[in-house]
Amino acid sequence: MSSIVINDVGPRDGLQNQLKILRPKQRLRLIEALLAAGMDHVEVGAFVSPKAVPAMAGTGQVLAGLPPAEQAVFTVLVPNLRGYELARDAGVKSICVVVYGTDGMAQANVGMSRKQADRAATHILGQARQDGIRVTLTVAVAFECPFEGPVAPSVVAEMVTKFMRLGSDELCIADTIGAANPLQVRSLTESLVVEHGPAQLSCHFHDTRAMGLANVFAAIESGIRKFDASIGGLGGCPFAPGASGNVATEDVVMMVEQMGFDTGIDLPGLLQASALAQELTGNAPGGRSRAWLDRQYSR
Ligand code: COA
Ligand code: ZN
Repeated sequence: MSSIVINDVGPRDGLQNQLKILRPKQRLRLIEALLAAGMDHVEVGAFVSPKAVPAMAGTGQVLAGLPPAEQAVFTVLVPNLRGYELARDAGVKSICVVVYGTDGMAQANVGMSRKQADRAATHILGQARQDGIRVTLTVAVAFECPFEGPVAPSVVAEMVTKFMRLGSDELCIADTIGAANPLQVRSLTESLVVEHGPAQLSCHFHDTRAMGLANVFAAIESGIRKFDASIGGLGGCPFAPGASGNVATEDVVMMVEQMGFDTGIDLPGLLQASALAQELTGNAPGGRSRAWLDRQYSR
């Protein structure tokens, strides 16, 4: 059976935008619930300015409290060299670094131009390669920017080629505000897969316009086999107006398992994690399939 990898970004992308800020211990409970459901890829936090994103303060404590999980890949987002050094010193083995399809989004997110963010990412990538740290390069606003509108596929393709050449382990194509449609996704991911093969590519969709699952499907058709998703559909970027939560992990797992892919994730366990996300934040919509899944597993 072929497999699909799901990286749960709920503890980072999901929590960074919540009105209710969770303590590191609460964030750890959520991560533990995800691991208990069999998830082995989790984005556990971000070393960003606590002034910019108060919800990510204490990421060091989250890392220190992680249970030993040899199979698991725990990723942390870093926006600049300072964040990289904090991550490295905390013993992080996998980081996510963001580059941008537009200047507007780069400015809003990290106060840099696109080029400056590219340079920062290049520098961090070089350091990480020396330090033996795995890098996922995320291309934010790969389809549309809330400030500048549509982003040309050629802009994304150029960034992907550049960072593949520089040795990035993974390139993640992100629809940061959930504006892409499945045909666009199919077209962009297909051309990237033709150029680079699928092994190092992944996708990140938000469900703002109810196209999250359709976009996952479109990318699967192109050969993509790794996706970010967020438990309970938590999420949204505080610096991208109008972005709602990520496509819900339980929706993606349900769909791809029904299609015959193996995720290694246990849906009843995932529902417990989703219920916990709701209990902790009061704001985890729970995926579009929640009512159906609850009925399936409560019998
Ligand atoms: N981790 C923790 N603190 C950091 C930091 C990091 N990676 N980088 C900078 N800081 C601190 C500085 O020390 C400074 O603190 P001080 O005011 O107490 O002296 C403060 O943050 C501002 O630093 P400065 O270098 O002036 O940066 P800035 O104000 O232009 O902010 C970023 C730039 C990148 C740090 C900030 O925009 C950020 O963290 N953005 C992340 C956004 C994000 O996570 N978006 C969602 C994910 S895509
Ligand atoms: Zn996102």
